[in-house]
Amino acid sequence: MSQKEVTKAIFPVAGMGTRFLPATKSIPKEIMTLVDRPLVQYAIDEARAAGIKEFIFVTSRGKGALEDYFDHAHQLENQLRERKQTDLLALLQSTNMDSGAIAYVRQHRALGLGHAIWCARRLISDEPFAVILPDDVIASDTPCLQQMIEVHANIGGNIVAAMRVPPERTSSYGILDVADEAGRTLRVRSMVEKPLPAAATSNLAVIGRYILTPSVLENLDNATVGTNDEIQLTDAINEETGPRKSGVHAFRFQGQHFDCGSKLGFLRATVSFGLSHPQLANEFLEYLKTVIAHVHEV
Ligand code: UTP
Repeated sequence: MSQKEVTKAIFPVAGMGTRFLPATKSIPKEIMTLVDRPLVQYAIDEARAAGIKEFIFVTSRGKGALEDYFDHAHQLENQLRERKQTDLLALLQSTNMDSGAIAYVRQHRALGLGHAIWCARRLISDEPFAVILPDDVIASDTPCLQQMIEVHANIGGNIVAAMRVPPERTSSYGILDVADEAGRTLRVRSMVEKPLPAAATSNLAVIGRYILTPSVLENLDNATVGTNDEIQLTDAINEETGPRKSGVHAFRFQGQHFDCGSKLGFLRATVSFGLSHPQLANEFLEYLKTVIAHVHEV
């Protein structure tokens, strides 16, 4: 069955980023740089590759640098043009967004991810939409969202990106109870936000890529606070697993996930992206070898 195309993506970036304090006192987490690009640029590139045309950011106070990042830098472009630095000019221009392609919505209080998505409800009509959390970075040959959109074109409904996590880490994720275990696309029976390991039905966790039906936004209209006193997106999606609802599938994507919302995850991503950077890889590898050799000596 062919489904309505997914052309809009919501990027919730209104969180407080407390795990990166004091840096996030003045820098939005999503602007922090992974090798040479801010996290949000990786998210935008992934969305564009998947055919997204409209980019909706849910922001909050103190995220001005993020909005500035998407302005066209005319003065800088002119200088690079005058200096004939064509490669840099092309690089800079590749980050320019079309006029009118970006919308910003404010979340006035950090009431949770579900509430952030709900804040964008008026920009979504009767159509499926994507959600991307920029602090979940995924390295893959085919961008994760594109993989999901291909699955969505066949089965429709709600699709959440999923991966196995160590059983003792379930309380950091939305955890899925799936009907079948084989294959990459699994029907979800239910999902729960951050269960303790003893209460978790599996170790299959949701990470920050979703394709959702507008019915999830309706569920959020009536949402009450859940885990951690926040309005949880997981709860609103879970309602769609019920009878005569739009249905939810977990998609085990191909690729490597980095939790850049945590310090260790950010460091891992930096090493991994540094080692696959065309200009840096060799020298960086040599540097890492000397560091590791030194650690072994000590
Ligand atoms: P996180 O759980 O990583 O929270 O949110 P956070 O505030 O960004 O970071 P910490 O935990 O304090 O360090 C996951 C995603 O949901 C967004 C965040 O911006 C991030 O992209 N979010 C979260 C909102 O937009 N609003 C909220 O109220 C909560």
